[in-house]
Amino acid sequence: MTTLTDSVEVTDSTKEDKNIVYDTKNLNLWYGDDQALRDINLQITENEVTAIIGPSGCGKSTYLKTLNRMVELVPVVRTSGEILYRGKNIFDKTYQVETLRTNVGMVFQKPNPFPKSIYDNIAYGPRIHGIKNKKILDEIVEKSLRGAAIWDEVKDRLKDNAYGMSGGQQQRLCIARCLAIEPDVILMDEPTSALDPISTLKVEDLIQELKKSYSIIIVTHNMQQAARISDKTAFFLSGEVIEFSDTDKMFSNPKNKQTEDYITGRFG
Ligand SMILES: Nc1ncnc2c1ncn2[C@@H]1O[C@H](COP(=O)(O)OP(=O)(O)OP(=O)(O)O)[C@@H](O)[C@H]1O
Ligand SMILES: [Mg+2]
Repeated sequence: MTTLTDSVEVTDSTKEDKNIVYDTKNLNLWYGDDQALRDINLQITENEVTAIIGPSGCGKSTYLKTLNRMVELVPVVRTSGEILYRGKNIFDKTYQVETLRTNVGMVFQKPNPFPKSIYDNIAYGPRIHGIKNKKILDEIVEKSLRGAAIWDEVKDRLKDNAYGMSGGQQQRLCIARCLAIEPDVILMDEPTSALDPISTLKVEDLIQELKKSYSIIIVTHNMQQAARISDKTAFFLSGEVIEFSDTDKMFSNPKNKQTEDYITGRFG
């Protein structure tokens, strides 16, 4: 017989079952002597949009680039602490960084298509992974462009150079290029800041669609955008996470005075 207590327990455990994609524990990061991240503790949940907000220079991009270990391209970088991706510490000596590169896609502030055709931009990643069959590549290209809500606009000009597309189209192409490698997580660093309002809305709608299949972490300077599209928000200040909570809660009732000042536009 199911008792009331049982059913409560079931509800609770279902809640806890929501998978954690990234678990950041006591992360510190230095560029030489300058500390850019301080004791970051943050959990990223599957199939959610997590927004990272905060004033210029507070460490948002640094944190994003730490999640795929791209930050290591800067030779003077040092880290301490852990980032567990799907339960494994990405800083472990034995960790294969290729695992991250194939599971974690990134979209940058400025659209950065390759100087190639629209088709070849999307086929690039799959080809690197050894896919040569034209029919399979055709399918991946179509599926990825559809996934990024740009197929209808480009299906008749797949052989054209990607540089001939508008900025908003190029950004969706870059998102499609990400999807082509079938990632698990998509990192986005101010993906709409170079776009006009209509393209911005298209990308925002797209993000809502994509979170059904992917986990998305987005850095944004636009408070309305964070409020519109994210499930959780982390407020960074001087390399620290000042507040991390459900977006609704943070924007309606911030716990911290500094968070409140920032989201109401009093500084930053
Ligand atoms: N390659 C680098 N070498 C040295 N210091 C760096 C490097 N990249 C960033 N920093 C420093 O780390 C701190 C955080 O920079 P970061 O780019 O992460 O900030 P941000 O929050 O993304 O800012 P913005 O909103 O302007 O993009 C800054 O003080 C910056 O000067
Ligand atoms: Mg930045």
